Amino acid sequence: MIRAAYQLQDQGIADPVLLGDRDTIESLTADLGLDFEPEVVDPDTADTEAYAERLHEIRERKGVTRSEAAELVARDSNYYGSVMVERGDADAFLTGLTHHYSSALRPPLQVVGTAPDTDYVAGVYMLTFKNRVIFCADTTVNLDPTPAQLAEITHHVAETARQFDVDPRVALLSYSDFGSVENEGTAKPRDAVSMLHDDPTVDFPVDGEMQADTAVVEDILTDTYDFAELDGPANCLVFPNLEAGNIGYKLLQRLGGADAIGPILAGMDEPVHVIQRGDEVKDIVNLAAVAVVDAQEE
Ligand code: ACO
Repeated sequence: MIRAAYQLQDQGIADPVLLGDRDTIESLTADLGLDFEPEVVDPDTADTEAYAERLHEIRERKGVTRSEAAELVARDSNYYGSVMVERGDADAFLTGLTHHYSSALRPPLQVVGTAPDTDYVAGVYMLTFKNRVIFCADTTVNLDPTPAQLAEITHHVAETARQFDVDPRVALLSYSDFGSVENEGTAKPRDAVSMLHDDPTVDFPVDGEMQADTAVVEDILTDTYDFAELDGPANCLVFPNLEAGNIGYKLLQRLGGADAIGPILAGMDEPVHVIQRGDEVKDIVNLAAVAVVDAQEE
C-alpha cells in the first residue's frame, strides 16, 4: 500500500492519505527507502468523535449505538475510511489488501451505499488482451443473483465499459444458447434479458442467454444466431452467478494472458474499491486511477 501510495503521488495521479498506525507506516516507508512523507491518519489516535457521530446517524436505525459507532471508527479502518469518503473528507477509498473481501466490503455498503439509481453493486474486471478488451461481471459480490439483479449487473458492466470509452455489447452467459436447455438455471439470464429488452433505458445491444463461445466468437453469433441483438462479439460478459464470474475472469487472466484491472466496484454512491489480498502494487495503482477518474466525473 505504501509503495502504491508513493507511485500515485510521484506520478501525480492522486494525493494519497494512508490510514493506519503512524509509527508503522513511517518506519516501513523508511525501510523501503522512499523519499515520501505521506499524509497519515491513525484512526486509533485521531479525533474520531465527528466520525463516530456520523456513523451513528447513518446506522442508528440499524442497531448501532453511539458507543458501538465510536468503537467501529476507532478500531476498523474500513468504517473510518467509509465515513471519510461519505463526508467528503476523501474523494475515494481503497481497502481490502489485508482483510477478507467480505469484511472490507460490508462497511462501505453500510455507510456509503449504492448510487440512487441502483440497489446492488457488482465487481467488474476489465481484461485487456492483445487485440480486444473484455469486461466481466459480477466477479466479486453477488453470490446467486436473481434475474432483476442480473439486469442491474448488466447496467453496471455497460456503464463501466463506457467509462473506458468502449461501446458495450453485452452477453448474458449460461451453458445454453437461447433456450437450448430449459431449466431454472438457464431461465435466470434468459429472464434478465427479457427485462432488459423491455427496459427503455437500455441503449446498448444485449442478448442471451448464450454460451461463452457464442458470445465471443463472431462466426457462431452471426451464422447460427443471426437474430441476436449483438452485431459483433460481446465485449461485456455477465456471468450467471459468483462462482462462474470469479472462476471465469481468473482463468481468462491466468491462462488467456490478459492484463486485469479490478475489481471495479460499480454502483457505489462514491468511488470505493475493495482490493483483493495478494494484489500487487500495479493493481492498486490501476484501481486507484479508476477511482480518481470516477471522483473527477462526479
Ligand atoms: N449490493 C449493494 N448492497 C448490498 C449488497 C449488494 N450486492 N449486498 C448487501 N448489501 C448491503 C445490504 O443492503 C446491507 O445494507 P444495510 O445494512 O444498510 O441494510 C449491507 O450491505 C450488509 O448486508 P448484509 O446482508 O448484512 O451483509 P451480508 O452478510 O450479506 O454481506 C456481502 C454482503 C459482503 C456483499 C456478501 O454478500 C458477500 O460476502 N459477498 C461475496 C463476497 C465474496 O466472497 N467474494 C469473493 C470474491 S473476492 C476474491 O476473489 C478474493
